[in-house]
Amino acid sequence: MPFLRNAWYIAALSKEIEGTALIGRTLLGEGVLIYRLRSGECVALRDRCPHRFAPLHMGTRVDDDVVCPYHALRFDPSGRCVHNPHGNQKIPAAAKVHRYRTVERYGLLWIWMGEPERADDSKIVDCSRLEIGHPNGVAYGYMRFDANYKLIVENILDLSHADHVHGLIISTRGELSKLIPKMHAEDRYVTARWDWKQTPAQQVVASFLPNPEAEARQFAEVHWHAPSNMLVTVGATQSADPKDVLQTWDYHFMTPETESSTHYFFASRRTANWIEEDAQYNQLKVTAMLQAFEREDGPLISAIQKEMGSSDFWSLNPVLLSSDPAPVRARRALEKLINEEASAGQASQPGT
Ligand code: FES
Ligand SMILES: [Fe+2]
Repeated sequence: MPFLRNAWYIAALSKEIEGTALIGRTLLGEGVLIYRLRSGECVALRDRCPHRFAPLHMGTRVDDDVVCPYHALRFDPSGRCVHNPHGNQKIPAAAKVHRYRTVERYGLLWIWMGEPERADDSKIVDCSRLEIGHPNGVAYGYMRFDANYKLIVENILDLSHADHVHGLIISTRGELSKLIPKMHAEDRYVTARWDWKQTPAQQVVASFLPNPEAEARQFAEVHWHAPSNMLVTVGATQSADPKDVLQTWDYHFMTPETESSTHYFFASRRTANWIEEDAQYNQLKVTAMLQAFEREDGPLISAIQKEMGSSDFWSLNPVLLSSDPAPVRARRALEKLINEEASAGQASQPGT
């Protein structure tokens, strides 16, 4: 199954692209070179020299250009070869590399891996929540999972696993599995929502409630935007006043590295009533969240990937439970989009 190419993915966190660094990252099975120009603008080029295919990120940077590490062809930020030290120094017409469309927004570098003329910035999902509020109330993280990105999408679209997989920090104490989540689905969009009570609340939030040991009302709403951009809003309260709800907006962005590995970007914003200005707590909280994902979800999802190997998901005849409609709907929607793109002949790889 090919990837959906005409879509926005995350290539990197803004904070990863620092100074004069040349970052090599495989996205959708394709080597991509990412770096920041002296002007501050980010560039993403195919990370493969057209001569003998050396990865350009192993080369050197000269001003805003990149010099290939092997025979020193030099490329400018548009991907054009601007210097050939060999023979008569003529530049072969084919000596160029693809430059991908990118947009830096919300502290993230968005990349369009498909046909450049179809890239539409207005289709980038709204993550403006990350920019509303005190700067200490937002945090970013990166993980890499040895699993297909769809397994991670489905993990988040079925939060009932928090009853069984997660330790105390985000455990939902068996409450979610009893519920059938409310679902809403469109062609490129699926949401699932759980409303429940638990005693005490999830540990990550309990100590900020008026009575940390007592029952709390909680909710979680998961939004999936094709292909793999997700927002999870989670809230907890012991009050009837909506202003008292402690809430986070957690963004999960899965960018396929290969068929069986994924770049997993995470960004989180808390409400103002949840010590939003406390930078130290912010760091502690995001570290705890990332550790829960990496130590608890990660090994399980990687083991599932290993067990499934390269088998098609449906060919394994999975048993479906009451928590499965949202993940199944998203998987089906994605398959449809990928098939439509392939049959329209739009799945060409401009970067190769
Ligand atoms: S491989 Fe890049 S110049 Fe030869
Ligand atoms: Fe999880």
